[in-house]
Amino acid sequence: MNVKKEIVDSLLLNAKIARDKAYAPYSHYSVGAALLTERNNIYSGCNIENSSFGATICAERVAIVKAISEEGNTLITHMLVYAKDPSPCGICRQFLSNFCSESTIIILSNTNNTDKFVTFKELFPYPFVNF
Ligand code: THU
Repeated sequence: MNVKKEIVDSLLLNAKIARDKAYAPYSHYSVGAALLTERNNIYSGCNIENSSFGATICAERVAIVKAISEEGNTLITHMLVYAKDPSPCGICRQFLSNFCSESTIIILSNTNNTDKFVTFKELFPYPFVNF
């Protein structure tokens, strides 16, 4: 997949910085995410756990919420997830679906410096869409 190195590098740097802020006292599993919008802004997030476990928010959704609260409805062109074994959960895939196109590039970057590149369509082929 043809993705500009400078995009991958800057998303990775932002995701690493975010991951260092993860609040994960229960799972001890830290995740960082960074995304690029069509307006060329980067937003990042980390996972934030809660003593009521179900209230935990994944890194991906934190980054998306930050992007939308700053830009309003916008298109995510790229998202990178950085973790030991990165893979967005089902809720995050569905949440992403409102702000991605089928060709949005998702980069799964593990802490051993191995990257997987997939399109959003490959990551989540059948999102729930209504209205
Ligand atoms: N988590 C994320 O932040 N993103 C993912 O893609 C998968 C899981 C978080 C949620 C929880 O804080 C921890 O990782 C373990 O599930």
